[in-house]
Amino acid sequence: MNDFQRQMTGIPASGKMSDTEFDPIEGATLLSLFFGLGKTLRLVGHDNDTFKNQIGKFWERFELVAEGADKLTIKIVTGRLFINENLCRTALKSEVVLEAIERWNALAIGGIEISFQPETTGLATLFQILNQTSGVETSEEIQNKLVRADVSGIRLLSTAEVEEGTGLPEEDRTHMRRQARSVFFQSMRAISESTSQILAGREGNIRQTKQVVHSLVDQLMVEDSSLLELTAIKDYDDYTFAHSVNVCIYSLAIGVNLQMDHRRLSQLGFSALFHDIGKTKLPSDVVKKPGAFDNEDWIMMQRHPSLGAKMLLKNFPISAHTVRGALTAFEHHINIDGTGYPRRRELRGLNLFSRIVTIADTYDALTSGRIYIKQQISPIEVIRKMFYQMDQKFDQLLLKVFINSIGLFPAGSLLLLSNDQVAIVEKIHPDQPGLPVVRVIGDRTGVRQTAKLVDLAAAESAEVHIKRFLNPQTCNIDLKYFVLNDLPVE
Ligand SMILES: [Fe+2]
Ligand SMILES: [Fe+2]
Repeated sequence: MNDFQRQMTGIPASGKMSDTEFDPIEGATLLSLFFGLGKTLRLVGHDNDTFKNQIGKFWERFELVAEGADKLTIKIVTGRLFINENLCRTALKSEVVLEAIERWNALAIGGIEISFQPETTGLATLFQILNQTSGVETSEEIQNKLVRADVSGIRLLSTAEVEEGTGLPEEDRTHMRRQARSVFFQSMRAISESTSQILAGREGNIRQTKQVVHSLVDQLMVEDSSLLELTAIKDYDDYTFAHSVNVCIYSLAIGVNLQMDHRRLSQLGFSALFHDIGKTKLPSDVVKKPGAFDNEDWIMMQRHPSLGAKMLLKNFPISAHTVRGALTAFEHHINIDGTGYPRRRELRGLNLFSRIVTIADTYDALTSGRIYIKQQISPIEVIRKMFYQMDQKFDQLLLKVFINSIGLFPAGSLLLLSNDQVAIVEKIHPDQPGLPVVRVIGDRTGVRQTAKLVDLAAAESAEVHIKRFLNPQTCNIDLKYFVLNDLPVE
């Protein structure tokens, strides 16, 4: 990450967020202990030692996570868990927590505020009531039961209270966006560092690469629009590593939609990150040539898949990651009908990762206007082009999965609305891909100091529709500024 990005994102060189001391692992343990209380109570009585022990551990962890504060808030926002506004992704790996989320959702409980009071009674009563509650009671009715049972220091929050407005509360949305930026730039740094190591004849850092891929997967699992929005920035001075990270994010979005397990997602992310590593062996004046390629340039460029495959096999310890990565690097320009390069004597089916990365790579190359076709095209035109070439180049099913993942108006797209307002797509509704949630940032007279969130699927926006995509360059709008900063939202 360069100084500009660090300054824009507020991320220190260590990559750790500057404004929080929250430890997600401690947070996840606290949540497992907390939600586990309900399960334990179903098996044993409240005066059982196991239960008392668990409550004791919960209060110990409470003190640690709350860092001296006497109150702690746990929120469930569209399947995500937050402790005091800190996202706690790791907690979703616990079965007890997942079960509890489902149960709390059914009861329309969006969260809970707990005051520090290291005793057993309050929490025991809470979970006794919750275990006996049927699905028809509201969080308010359950709260009344707590009051009648003389329980103080515990306040239930309703789902509506927690998920006001267009989905995420503003602090949560800002937090998500910051976290996505942190993961995005850490990934850029990881691929850049590994590439330098490989070019210096050393081994690439597979551990660091796996770590960033896992972070990207975790982020995509809980909320994909903040990461997808970052892929819309196309005007980095050096696009090489941003392209690799974008291709990785698009590929993982397809993998997540195909419900791949973590192991395969990790291999897919690794393969996508390094798909173009072979280009680093080519003269940079050819790779970064601003104009169109001539015949000689093309011959040179067509060497990058085989160069990449060799580099991966030579510079990483042999593992499933490197073998699949090498195969993907080798195959990502072959095309589904074998018309691409490198030419192969007999046409064998391409491996799944290559078919996924080809789609992600082509989409990013065409939307960036940086690679091969030196002109920026809107996402919808790119999708149209890709559909037109579907039989020759792409796996039809995977292309549909990809379009489903990013939507027709992908996060980060700059739009002109019918009321002449200029907006950036914030997130898509999977069931209404043509009506995203947008952030209005200006109108024809100029940009605003504050952003306004508008849900185009909401009844009050029925009169407003999307007129067309805007090209940030020709409109002179610094999209990067609006994506990397959090304007106050009115
Ligand atoms: Fe390539
Ligand atoms: Fe590429």
